[in-house]
Amino acid sequence: MRDTFLSHVRVFEKGTITVMESTTTCRICSSRVREFVDFGEQPLSDAFRDPAATDEEYFFRLAVGVCEECTMVQLMEEVPRERMFHEDYPYLSSGSSVMRAHFSGLARRFLDTELTGDDPFIVELGCNDGIMLGTVAEAGVRHLGVEPSGGVADRAAAKGVRVRKDFFEAGTAASVLAEDGRADVIYAANTLCHIPYIGSVLEGVDALLAENGVFVFEDPYWAEIVRRNSFDQIYDEHFYFFTAHSVQAMASRYGLELVDVELLPVHGGEARYTLARAGSRPVGASVTRTLRAEQESRLTDEATLTGFATRVRAIRDDLLELLQGLAKEGRKVVGYGATAKSATVLNYCGIGPDLIEYIADTTPAKQGRLTPGSHIPVVPHERFAADRPDHVLLLAWNHAEEIMANERGVRESGGAWIQYVPRVEVG
Ligand code: SAH
Ligand code: TYD
Repeated sequence: MRDTFLSHVRVFEKGTITVMESTTTCRICSSRVREFVDFGEQPLSDAFRDPAATDEEYFFRLAVGVCEECTMVQLMEEVPRERMFHEDYPYLSSGSSVMRAHFSGLARRFLDTELTGDDPFIVELGCNDGIMLGTVAEAGVRHLGVEPSGGVADRAAAKGVRVRKDFFEAGTAASVLAEDGRADVIYAANTLCHIPYIGSVLEGVDALLAENGVFVFEDPYWAEIVRRNSFDQIYDEHFYFFTAHSVQAMASRYGLELVDVELLPVHGGEARYTLARAGSRPVGASVTRTLRAEQESRLTDEATLTGFATRVRAIRDDLLELLQGLAKEGRKVVGYGATAKSATVLNYCGIGPDLIEYIADTTPAKQGRLTPGSHIPVVPHERFAADRPDHVLLLAWNHAEEIMANERGVRESGGAWIQYVPRVEVG
């Protein structure tokens, strides 16, 4: 059932062809958003299904556009937040040792640089299972995680993290402010890009942030998505795809300023943005450097976006051809990593259990379930370890190094990995 549709579809005559042009209004600056890629009807990426379920699956139109004014790349259609983030939200941040090291390192950096005053206070939006705040809690520093998904919030609490089960927005910020006072650091990893109502979040940040505080957030970087053709970063939960340029434009609307940008290798290429109150901190050289690089690569120009959409279609065709060929030869092909990203690949390419027998994943809440839309069984890692598949489609490609090191047996027993970003490759 569709219960939201924000785009307006305009139909007009161009020569003898009827063109459907979809536009919507920018969630940041209210200008026109021009669509450049459409993945069709897609399910909720983290709605892994009970095989016995009989209810109708929810689908929405997954398409991406760019704001003609502020250049923010964003989804054309929004999914109501309660459908995605709830008690049974299955994603666990701590499933990767690389990510555990990444976040504990950042927590130590905050403790050494920003949280050094008399009674410092840090707020994290989307703390999930406490992967970052766990280190802060251990150090005995005052903190709060704001996390709407109850199950993962409970896991954070079990690590000694103080959590408020709520969506962060202006109203939440006001009540945190009343209870705890201003925050020296407000932090969000892979969360700000999940929030269409970002204006309310930034109003909240403005109210809650200490005069010399910082708002730091990290999310998949649009430049890397274009460079790597990683179109599966596009799914219901990822509403925005930031660049330094669009973040700078957005920040200035809320009295904030972009003072630092760091490019990160995790999750297939991310950027960490640091915002401060305008004029409160020097603007680092990284900002000018990144803005210049973005301008040179014409990240949001029509030609770049059309080229991206064309490459995405080529990957779909190549992957489907490869998997159909392997199925005809009777090869045993399975998947690895029931990621949210995989929903886009599987549903866009039309890959089902006829082409991929199962997907192995370590997350307990995904095991025994079917992937959304494509209905491929998700099985525990033990099943994968016991089998010797001919080919393994690496759906968690952002953890490739970690997974391939742990799963040396695949190649040792004559099997091969299939990757699809930046192009379809077997090896
Ligand atoms: N920070 C973690 C989790 C990212 S997943 C990491 O980087 O691994 C995104 C998280 O954001 C989910 O746990 C989801 O429940 C949470 N979330 C979604 N909307 C939110 C909001 N408005 N405020 C705070 N958290 C939110
Ligand atoms: P991830 O790529 O982090 O995020 P998303 O779901 O947002 O696309 O998800 C990684 C998935 O892969 C997660 O379901 C856990 C699983 N996984 C394994 O099964 N084994 C592993 O060694 C690792 C690192 C992840």
